[in-house]
Amino acid sequence: MTSVLESSGPIVLPALLLCDFGHLAREVERLEQAGAQALHLDVMDGRFVPQLTYGPVVVEAVRRAAQVPLEVHMMVEQPELTAVDYARLGADIVTVHVEAVVDPVPTLAAIRNQGARAHLALSPGTPVDVIEPLLHACDGVLVMSVEPGFGGQAFEPVALDKLARLAAVRQERGLGFRLGVDGGISTETIDRVAAAGAELIVAGSAVIRSADYAQAITELESRARAAS
Ligand code: DX5
Ligand code: ZN
Repeated sequence: MTSVLESSGPIVLPALLLCDFGHLAREVERLEQAGAQALHLDVMDGRFVPQLTYGPVVVEAVRRAAQVPLEVHMMVEQPELTAVDYARLGADIVTVHVEAVVDPVPTLAAIRNQGARAHLALSPGTPVDVIEPLLHACDGVLVMSVEPGFGGQAFEPVALDKLARLAAVRQERGLGFRLGVDGGISTETIDRVAAAGAELIVAGSAVIRSADYAQAITELESRARAAS
C-alpha cells in the first residue's frame, strides 16, 4: 500500500482537518473518487498545539473507510507514548514533531518495527540543523510551512530554504527519505514548494474548501509535477 509514498513524482495529500466530520466516511470516499492518492490526518492534543482534534478511534475509522495510504501527523506532547498505536492500527506514515520528543530515534524505530514509515516534522521556527543528525533514522521529513495547529493559515516562505537544504543533504549523503510540506499550500504556493523538492504535499483548505475536490487535486498535482 505504500508504493505511492515511495514513487518519485510529487503527490497531494488532502488533509481532513476541515472536512465534514459528521460524514467522515463519505468525505474519505469523495476524496478518493476525486483522485486523492493518500490522506493526511492531523492529530492534535490541545497541549502541543492549542486545538484538540481526534485520536486513535477516529484514525481507525478512517483506516476502515479508506483504500489509500494514510499519514498521521502527530501534533502532541510525548508522541513516544502513542506513536506506535497509530502504526499498529494501520497508518502508513506516522509523523512525529522533533520539538515534542527529547530523543526521536527510539520512537522512529518503534514505528518502523510496526511496518509503518517514520517521518519527522519540523515547525517553522526549528532550524534544519536539529534534524540533520537524525535523517538516517527516518523515512521522511515534513517541513511545516505554517505554525502547527490550524488549517487555513498563510504560507510561510521559510519552508522553501529548508526543503532545498534537505534535498541537498539527501543527495550529498545518499539518503532516501521523502520530503513533505504542510501548511498554506494552494495554487499560489505549490509551484515553489515542488521546485524546492517537496514530494508529499499536504493541502487542507485548498481542497476541502474548494467547490470541486477533483478539480482542486488535479490542478495542484499538475502544477507540482510541472514545477518539480
Ligand atoms: C496544520 C496542519 C495542516 C493543516 C493544513 O497544523 O498540520 O495539515 O490541515 O491546512 P492548510 O492546507 O489549510 O494550511
Ligand atoms: Zn498536518
